[in-house]
This record gives sequence, C-alpha cells and structure tokens, in this order.
Amino acid sequence: MIALIRLAKPWIGEDEQRAVAAVLESGQLVQGPLVERFEHAVAALVGRSHAVAVSSGTAALQLALKVLGVGHGDEVICPALTWPSPAHASRLAGARVRFIDVDPNEWNSTGEAFSAARNTDTKAAIVIDQFGNPARAREIREALGALPIIEDAACAIGSRFSEGPCGSLGVISCFSFHPRKILTTGEGGVCLTDDEAIASRLRVLRNHGQLANEIVVPAGNFRMTEIAAALGLTQLQRLDEIVARRREIAALYRDALGDVVDLQTTPEGAESNYQTLGIVLPQGQTRDAFRDELRARGVEAGLLSYAVHQLGSFTGHDESLPIAEYIAARGVALPLYPQMRNAEVQEVIARVREVLGG
Ligand SMILES: Cc1ncc(COP(=O)(O)O)c(C=O)c1O
Repeated sequence: MIALIRLAKPWIGEDEQRAVAAVLESGQLVQGPLVERFEHAVAALVGRSHAVAVSSGTAALQLALKVLGVGHGDEVICPALTWPSPAHASRLAGARVRFIDVDPNEWNSTGEAFSAARNTDTKAAIVIDQFGNPARAREIREALGALPIIEDAACAIGSRFSEGPCGSLGVISCFSFHPRKILTTGEGGVCLTDDEAIASRLRVLRNHGQLANEIVVPAGNFRMTEIAAALGLTQLQRLDEIVARRREIAALYRDALGDVVDLQTTPEGAESNYQTLGIVLPQGQTRDAFRDELRARGVEAGLLSYAVHQLGSFTGHDESLPIAEYIAARGVALPLYPQMRNAEVQEVIARVREVLGG
C-alpha cells in the first residue's frame, strides 16, 4: 500500500524534543523566562515594540478586540473568506460583523471593500493576510484613516508586504502557532503592538485580570506555557529555512498547475510564505469529489477555506459575497510542508492533473 502524502506536517526535530525535555526538568511550566524570551524574539523579528504571547491565535484576536473596547452596538469589518475565528471573536465581543468580499486574484479584501463597508458604528477592521498572502497594507491603511486595524496575520509570520513584514500593520497584529501554521508551539498565538498601554492591558487580560499582585478586572486565562515557548524559540531559528523551502515547493506547484486551476496571486513587491497552497477548481469539478479522487490516489487534500457568512454560526447573514462563496465552494488546499521531497510534490502534481483530466 502506498503511503498517503499528507496535507501538512509540523517540522519537529531533536532540537524541539531537547528544548521541551529541558522545560519538563526545570519544573516551571507556565509563563516563565522562555515565554518572555519568545516574546522578545517575535517582536524583534517583526520590528514591533511589544509582543504578548497567548494560548492561541483566536485568543489573540479576542484579547485584541477587548483591549480596543469593541462591544455591544459596535460593528467590526471582516473579510468573509477565512477561518471563522476573526468573525467569531467579534461576535463573542458583542459586536455585529460586517462581512466583505475578497479580491478574485489575491483572495484578500481590498482597501476599497473596507472603506465601502465602513459606517458610524464601525469600531475596528480586521485585515487578514489569508493563507500567508500579504494584504494590500498601504492601500488599506490609507482607506481606513484613523480606524483601528487588527491584523489577523495568523498564517503570515515570515511573509512581507512591499513596505515591511506581515505583523506590522495593525494597531494590534496577531499570529497563530497552531501546527498548520509556519511555526508551531502546539497551540499558541501572540499579539504585537507598539503601544505600551495596549501591551500592558493585554498582559493583564491574558492572566486573570492580574496587575502586579492585584486582580483589577474580570478576565480569563489565555497564558502560553513554557513548553510552547520552548518549541517556538527552537522553531524560530529555522524560520528562514522553512519559508524558503515552502516558497520552492509553491513555485513547483504554481509552474505545473497554473494552466488548469486558479491560484492566489501576491501583490507586487510583497512576498507570501505559502502557509497554504490553494487551488480553485475549474467549472465541472466539485470540491468534495475531487478530494475523494485525490485521496484514492494517495494524496490528502484539504478544504481551502470558508465563506464565513454562510456558516451555521452566522445564520441571518443573507448577504451575497460571490467571490468568497465561489472560492470557498471550489477551493482545495494541496500538501505543502518543508520536509516534503520534490518527488512527492511531482507525485501530487501528476495526480491532480490526472483527476482534472489534463
Ligand atoms: C486567518 C486565521 N485567523 C485565526 C486563526 C486561529 O488561530 P488558532 O487556531 O491558533 O486559534 C486561524 C487558524 O487557522 C486562521 O487561519
């Protein structure tokens, strides 16, 4: 029986195992010196003044909305084509979500779409670097003026806008370190900001509302463990290598499949880390049947993303956002992870072309 080519695999080696074992021996498992070192390293990587490590990318978004005071009666603008977290976090904060469509080529929302959705209730905009593809940062910032931007860069560590690293756009920018992301800490995330007051408020809110030895506000527990930080610090050392290899693999796919499927394009001057290699199937192909056919040939392919306004968690949203809906219905994620061999990439390409009949 042929081994299945997996959609994704975190790159965990002996260095990670040693780093985690050292934490277990130390006896300090939560919110200690390694979390602080990890925060400094991530902030330095993106050129931000503060990084606040938390338990997931979703936690980072929830805390960002809370710190910006988003609540009942407010609206948050959110691209529709994505994982549900940014919209769910906004809804959980009590806000209404104003979904907007995405660009048909870049699969991110444009400055024009953000500014058209803005109204007097808009309290914040969530800008997403979807699948690691940088959003049009300058254009969006210009379109939104002083409106606070939360950058959901969950997938985008190691990607670059033409004017700087992803993670540098938002008043608060968020990364995820889930195993499907570029670097993993198991579960984990981070909020990045240049504002000292925002950073201290985030620190209070991730840790039961504790400031020094006082409990000053009701809050949950969103702390990162030392085990996670040890993993993250080790993985950070390989970031350049990981991103370079992902780009090589993406280039192989793009060269070989661009004539038969639609692919995401990157704004001029920007660079994607290819967190996900998405393809959008041509007319006549249905996503689930295509995935089943690939699986029967030894290739695991994923569902690319959701049109979040159509999910059960957003009943009552009957707006039509045709591009997000089209990509969600026909989008498939192909295997891509740095340890993948070129021969495996060629195998996936051959099987995709075979299923597409060309
Ligand atoms: C765009 C986006 N935002 C947020 C998240 C949530 O991150 P986490 O799984 O770490 O909570 C994800 C995860 O897939 C994502 O793709």
